[in-house]
Amino acid sequence: MSSLHGRNLLGRCAGSSQQALRKVANHHDQPEKEQPNHRQSKWSAVYIAAIGVAGLTIPILGYKKAHALQKDVKNNSKLSETRFSRKDVAQHDSLDKGVWITYKGRVYDITNFIQHHPGGSHTIMMGAGGDVEPFWQTYTVHEALEVQRLLSSYQIGVLLDEESQQESAQIPPETNGPYASDPHRNQLLNVLTNQPFNAETPSKLLVPTFETPAEVFFVRNHLPVPEVDLSEYKFSICIGTDGDPDGQEVVAEYTLDDLKRKFKPHTIDCVIQCSGNRRSDLKKIREIKGLDWSVGAVGNASWTGVRLVDLLESLKLRQTESIKHVQLQGLDCDMSGQSYGASISADVAFDPKREVLLAYEMNGQPLTRDHGFPLRFVAPGITGARNVKWLSKLILSHEESTSHWQRNDYKSFSPNVDMFNLDYKQSVSIQEMPVQSAICDPIDGETVKLKLDAVGTKPRIPIRGYAYSGGGKMIVRVDVSVDGGDNWITANLDDLPYLEDGSPDFTNRNRTWSWTRWSTSIVVPDAIIEAKQGRMKILCRAFDSSYNSQPERAETIWNVRGVVNNSWHAINVSLLLS
Ligand code: MTE
Repeated sequence: MSSLHGRNLLGRCAGSSQQALRKVANHHDQPEKEQPNHRQSKWSAVYIAAIGVAGLTIPILGYKKAHALQKDVKNNSKLSETRFSRKDVAQHDSLDKGVWITYKGRVYDITNFIQHHPGGSHTIMMGAGGDVEPFWQTYTVHEALEVQRLLSSYQIGVLLDEESQQESAQIPPETNGPYASDPHRNQLLNVLTNQPFNAETPSKLLVPTFETPAEVFFVRNHLPVPEVDLSEYKFSICIGTDGDPDGQEVVAEYTLDDLKRKFKPHTIDCVIQCSGNRRSDLKKIREIKGLDWSVGAVGNASWTGVRLVDLLESLKLRQTESIKHVQLQGLDCDMSGQSYGASISADVAFDPKREVLLAYEMNGQPLTRDHGFPLRFVAPGITGARNVKWLSKLILSHEESTSHWQRNDYKSFSPNVDMFNLDYKQSVSIQEMPVQSAICDPIDGETVKLKLDAVGTKPRIPIRGYAYSGGGKMIVRVDVSVDGGDNWITANLDDLPYLEDGSPDFTNRNRTWSWTRWSTSIVVPDAIIEAKQGRMKILCRAFDSSYNSQPERAETIWNVRGVVNNSWHAINVSLLLS
């Protein structure tokens, strides 16, 4: 029996024999990385370059340009004496009233900079009237000297002494109890529960970047985050012993360093989406027990690690008649010592084209503790629950994982099934998720202010969102409607690859693990222009490469567990024109 090298304060995991102390790993000496192999077109090279450029160079160049434009550099020494309260700052949260922000106790009037922001004016406006530190911790391009210099030229004062204490951009864990050693989290996350920690990405932060920054990537934990000592960490591969449900033979054990040294790293772009994403829309129909996820229990990241097929091949482990499932175990465990577990089918795990990974990096950095440090299972196209974090063990088995989360959760039912006639055995475990799309910007209930420009030009409302389908199906179309679905306009698919002749490249129609963000803009209806205000309901729906689409009404797919809601996404916005 292998030993598991993690602990948490709820209890010791079954089979764990080691004390684990937190220790920071050295992740620097890694072999050269392979590029994602599902973006092979010429477009792909341009795309990857563009991401790199957009991620680093353009923003910095953008800031340099903006700095050059900022002619009226103020005398900071005098201005810095003016004192403001946070309330004063909060009142300056729009272009009409002026846009003020705070950063490390200083106050800045950035109204004139808004239109020059290299990341777009809508993103910088998210920090208007408040502290930008949480954003800057997430989008670290702001650490550049050029950005700091530019910012200082907009300083108008400092916060009142009693308020100048820098607010922490991080949410600390509780001081006592089983969750006391959980990590600090970014303040931008929308927290649903603290213990265990569950938080979603604010929807507006889902669309600015192809890869969701780890800092604001949604977190779905069922238990305390285990503390892992890398010097004691081992990952084991086992084979289930037929006839003995608990019996396992350990075939091999690896340290993280072994995995990095012995296997060529492989990188993929891949979505992780919780089965409960968009449960909040189902809850509006009938009450459901479960976290109230809106549209942000999803994220897209690049994941680097060892291809499972490479590891299995090195051990000469082939799929046999008796190997039908691949079970995964995490290091997090409950009071009784039961660890988090899940499984995927062996057909997927043994298929090289499915690119299943044992990942140790997310977006080019070592995994964070919340996202599974030191190792997590990444099963592209498969629902989040099977992407086991803090991976300790993989078992080739004749049966699905016996864990609660595989057998008695993460399954859907007919709308007529309730808690009293629920039979989990009758329902298949969720693996591949159905086609999904959501509007991220604007958000439901938002008041969108638009300018009435030159005579004859009708104002347009910009709309952005994401779309994704499970099992590798590519998103081929996203439609948007403002008249309840009678008429639709086709949105731009911002991350879709294109061929040289300008047509979309559908080559990877069955092996697209990432999302596509989409965008469009809609002309404001005449009645609203005339009244200079009004309300609009905006709908979206996506189609995948099998022409599967989303059901119109959530009522038809309501289920007692509140999972796999992929009905048309709807938001209501108020418009104010001036
Ligand atoms: N793995 C372990 N060990 N423990 C967990 O609680 N949660 C699962 C999965 N892997 C979980 C886990 C669920 S339900 C989801 S949706 C994803 O992790 C979320 O991954 P993330 O927190 O990195 O976004």
